[in-house]
Amino acid sequence: MHCTIALLRGDGIGPEISDEALRALHAAGQRFKHEFQFVEAYAGGEAWDRYGEHLPAVTLDACRNADAILKGPFGGPLAELHSPKWSGVETTAILGLRRAFDLFMNLRPVVVYPEVVALSPLRPEIVEGADMLIVRELTGGIYFGERGERVVDGVRTVWDTESYSEREIARITHGAFRIARGRRRHLTLVAKSNILDSSVLWRDVLARIAPEYPDVTHDYLHVDNASMQIIANPRQFDVLLTNNIFGDILSDEASVLAGSLGMLGSASLNAEGFGMYEPIHGSAPDIAGQGKANPIAMILSAAMMLRLSFRLEAEAAAVESAVRYALAGGLRTADIAAAGGELVSTQRMGEAIERAILAS
Ligand code: IPM
Ligand code: MG
Repeated sequence: MHCTIALLRGDGIGPEISDEALRALHAAGQRFKHEFQFVEAYAGGEAWDRYGEHLPAVTLDACRNADAILKGPFGGPLAELHSPKWSGVETTAILGLRRAFDLFMNLRPVVVYPEVVALSPLRPEIVEGADMLIVRELTGGIYFGERGERVVDGVRTVWDTESYSEREIARITHGAFRIARGRRRHLTLVAKSNILDSSVLWRDVLARIAPEYPDVTHDYLHVDNASMQIIANPRQFDVLLTNNIFGDILSDEASVLAGSLGMLGSASLNAEGFGMYEPIHGSAPDIAGQGKANPIAMILSAAMMLRLSFRLEAEAAAVESAVRYALAGGLRTADIAAAGGELVSTQRMGEAIERAILAS
């Protein structure tokens, strides 16, 4: 199989973790006889340096002409937030890409394999066997709602708006039900319907759609309760469906089950199945270029690309097994080293995963 991948390495630790994802993909290509062709494109800080903008048209064209997008994290140091290079980069580059391709369905799997149980600060009997998929709406809600500002008597008031149409909710609800069918057939909607009218709409739409999926059970949790349940009793969850901002927050929280933010990949898909794949973590400029970053989130994102964009299930499974193998062998990047193991660099982790793919 021949696949063209638009590669956006990203800022901060992006380039080094992208190198390791490429290493894993090349190994999978060699092992299973596929040709992966990478087309480098630039967005975020790197695009600013090259083109003076965060998401240039050439980058969108490269993405449009590819079979999938593999993307590292974008963003700069907090202290430089207001510099021209970094100001607004998340909105323009990341939200811009999500919007440009209408990537409304964001899948964030949180799986606690036996090999990673010890990485979590939570007790093993709580996290063991947890396996949930956060389905986060990605192109609507407060991230994209109306904003405004007014000044009265010298006092600034600024607002962002949470707003969802029935159509936006329905399409992701159908998506989440369909995915639940391929899993343990349970869907939990997370919102805040005791306060927010938009959350009431999510519940209404779910109630209307659910009868079309009689084989999937469903329930509902308020987001404050859900955030507690994710830590207290994570095994109860299968598919968690939620809006853009709750999904952002809950997925960072859930990453603690798997040990670290550096362990979770994600897929963002549109209605045609076109996808962008990215780690859920940020660009970590404080540790950039030092070989300290964990490449696993990026590598697992690449595995999701193999599975969801290219339908290469065995290949995706081989990459995931290789990650587990490296962890079982005791290799640890700094973010997951608290419970012991052999502290290794970004590159050494990537090489161990590469070897395991080639040997699979
Ligand atoms: C994520 C990130 C992004 C988001 C930021 C960097 C814009 O936190 O993918 O979870 O909020 O969606
Ligand atoms: Mg986030």
